[in-house]
Amino acid sequence: MSAALIVADMPNPAAQKAYIGRLFDRAAASYDQVGHTLFGQAGAALVAAAALRPGECVLDVGCGRGASLFPAVEAVGASGSVTGIDLAAAMVEATRADIARRGIANASVAVGDAESPPFRPHSFDAVLAGFVLFFLPHPAAALGSFAGLLRPGGRLALSTFADPSVQEIAFAQTCGEAVAPYLPSPPMSDNRPPLQRFRTAESVTRPLQALGFVDVRSDRRDFDSPVQCWHWLWSGGLRGLVELVPPDRRHDARAAYIAAVGQLSRPADSIALTGSVRFTTARSPS
Ligand SMILES: C[S@@+](CC[C@H](N)C(=O)[O-])C[C@H]1O[C@@H](n2cnc3c(N)ncnc32)[C@H](O)[C@@H]1O
Repeated sequence: MSAALIVADMPNPAAQKAYIGRLFDRAAASYDQVGHTLFGQAGAALVAAAALRPGECVLDVGCGRGASLFPAVEAVGASGSVTGIDLAAAMVEATRADIARRGIANASVAVGDAESPPFRPHSFDAVLAGFVLFFLPHPAAALGSFAGLLRPGGRLALSTFADPSVQEIAFAQTCGEAVAPYLPSPPMSDNRPPLQRFRTAESVTRPLQALGFVDVRSDRRDFDSPVQCWHWLWSGGLRGLVELVPPDRRHDARAAYIAAVGQLSRPADSIALTGSVRFTTARSPS
């Protein structure tokens, strides 16, 4: 919703991680399962950007419900392998169940912190990190540890949110203003991540170049994302905002949200947005 509602300083890294882990635990059951959302499309695009090849060994950091993990399994084939880690145990459990349900033998997931991935140096051909970097208290250190995990010539592929379109800004403003009266004031605790980070090319490419990555490039791409309903708000990071609405006011907040969406689109309670994503790729030196 409005940037002002989502962004705040994050003075305490441990509290930030605890907040994020618990938030995505609560979101795990419906994360990426509500309609045809951005994450599935962007996950497939991230894997394409990483140019994975059959037989490769891939790490997916902050794997969530597998938006990039499952396309990566397809790309590396039976002779390759994909390992996912995520801070949120419920995300890991749900994705592990999806792996089993699909009968996939060469993928595994575990609880793990992107800032200290528990793997031997130079053990991966590629590292993927879809919509994770901005959640980390120490993103440059995390990028450094990804560099250490890659084999010489290995590839890193990251996605972050790009600058929002005029339409996304209007959506965030209109719906943010509709829900704001139901939020406690001030609405934010001090445990919220600055999601605005890494929106520009330079903000992502510069730390990678400083770490010695080569062939660094960053491109923006837009995706149609048709479902932005009230239920969708609960399925991802925005859940942290709507959870602040006291339970006895949620019915009214939902009605206000639907009315606001109705001003922007028909039918109400579902608006088609174009989401803007930044894909950044880099190679560790050979
Ligand atoms: C927006 S979701 C993206 C999930 C998935 N990569 C995708 O593209 O759909 C962010 C994910 O990163 C995870 N995450 C956040 N901080 C993390 C950390 N320090 N270590 C590992 N995972 C983390 C969250 O639990 C969540 O599952």
